[in-house]
Amino acid sequence: MRDLPGKVVVVTGAAQGIGRALAEAFADAGCRLVLADIDGPKAEAVARELAQGGTETVSVRTDVSRRDQVLDLRDTVLARFGAVHVLCNNAGVMGPAGDPLWELPVGEWQRVMAVNLWGQLHGIQAFLPAMLAAGHEGHVVNTASMQGVTSGPLIPEYAASKHAVVSLSESLRAQLDARSARIGVSVLCPGAVRTDLAPRERRRLAEDGPREPWAVAPGTSGSASRSPAGGVTLTASQVAAAAVAAVRENRFYVFTHPGSGARVRARITPLLAALDGL
Ligand SMILES: NC(=O)c1ccc[n+]([C@@H]2O[C@H](COP(=O)([O-])OP(=O)(O)OC[C@H]3O[C@@H](n4cnc5c(N)ncnc54)[C@H](O)[C@@H]3O)[C@@H](O)[C@H]2O)c1
Repeated sequence: MRDLPGKVVVVTGAAQGIGRALAEAFADAGCRLVLADIDGPKAEAVARELAQGGTETVSVRTDVSRRDQVLDLRDTVLARFGAVHVLCNNAGVMGPAGDPLWELPVGEWQRVMAVNLWGQLHGIQAFLPAMLAAGHEGHVVNTASMQGVTSGPLIPEYAASKHAVVSLSESLRAQLDARSARIGVSVLCPGAVRTDLAPRERRRLAEDGPREPWAVAPGTSGSASRSPAGGVTLTASQVAAAAVAAVRENRFYVFTHPGSGARVRARITPLLAALDGL
């Protein structure tokens, strides 16, 4: 989707972090912005800043885990702009790190899946029919993670949700391709990014009272637990720039961090080895 100026871009989780950076990058590209976030006032403050810079922007308080609220978001966007060209399913939460997955409370699993998986599915189900019916060029960006293409002991609920996002994105692309739809798909797989994702999780868990905070899974080091994705830490703006470039060039997998190749290879090498001799 080379021609971005004037296009309507919806970003979920846009009040801060990667979502905010995505909004800023699309604003710099001349797009009109819809900022959706569960933190309404913060999203509104970002919208005001973008508007001051000359970008037509609206913010809508939205909990992406609630299908009704995402449908309302869609209706608000269509009433205001009449179209949606780019949907960035970006809102996400991390969940506790280090807990054995057989002990992690079901409610924690459900919370992570509700935002990270169901939130993206709600976005796709709300917006895709309108985008397809309009018949114009469009693009969906789903924020996954390196945790969506690797596995480890540290945050299994988060990794499972992000693997689901990668799979959902692959299926979405295949189904759109089969229809020769003019809608591209990208799945964003960053490593560690300097945002409030992990600190916010630690604050939330601390509010729940005494608990072994930020437990370290056997076989991992303490420092690794503080940087679950490991390796280089990038800024949200660097990741957003990679995402916008992928939309322009219609690239599906979007890896952002040096060393990502080695991590993916470490996962798939045993898979391929298990196939040897079949
Ligand atoms: N920070 C990292 O290291 C990293 C790495 C890979 C992928 N990601 C992914 O990037 C995305 C953005 O995360 P971030 O790092 O910018 O974190 P962040 O915590 O800084 O921002 C997340 C935003 O999502 C919003 N949000 C949370 N739950 C929501 C809900 N139910 N409905 C609507 N909005 C909601 C928050 O209010 C916040 O504004 C997430 O999907 C995350 O999993 C982050």
